[in-house]
Amino acid sequence: MIRYIESFDNVVELGCHVGTSTKIISKLCQDATVYAFDNSPESVEAMDNLGIEYSNIKFKCADVRDKDMLYEFAKSHKDIDVLCIDLGGGYHPDTVFKVFFLWSSILKPRVCLLRNRGLVDFINSSQTGERIHSDNGFLSSCADDIIPKELK
Ligand SMILES: C[S@@+](CC[C@H](N)C(=O)[O-])C[C@H]1O[C@@H](n2cnc3c(N)ncnc32)[C@H](O)[C@@H]1O
Repeated sequence: MIRYIESFDNVVELGCHVGTSTKIISKLCQDATVYAFDNSPESVEAMDNLGIEYSNIKFKCADVRDKDMLYEFAKSHKDIDVLCIDLGGGYHPDTVFKVFFLWSSILKPRVCLLRNRGLVDFINSSQTGERIHSDNGFLSSCADDIIPKELK
């Protein structure tokens, strides 16, 4: 995060828990906003308090697999620069990948920072010779395939 987030970057953080990482992001993007999401009941009070202390933190208690919630958010937030995803070690990599694919395809961030052991293991196990490459924080070969008609 320290290497990639700049002061004017609007950041979406999926899996903020009680805001330990959100505080770091908030200081890195001090001239923009962090939109933090988590569905844990533990997050609500901690994140509401953090939102009072740090004026650039906006928290929503929600399940980030909820596509309708993502589409609603995307309609009014077309300027997201960085997407941070940390849904926890217990979460299966397939779910984390799906969340990454949906959010990054819709928001098209410059950078996506993803924390998941299973996905790193999977990537490092690949021996493909195919040259498929994305320069930004989303999969440029297929991101546009999933955008619903109303957002196109
Ligand atoms: C490892 S913790 C995040 C830690 C946090 N980023 C930090 O650095 O302190 C993972 C968080 O992801 C949240 N989470 C997992 N699945 C989720 C989902 N489907 N929707 C929203 N939050 C989810 C959990 O509630 C948990 O708080």
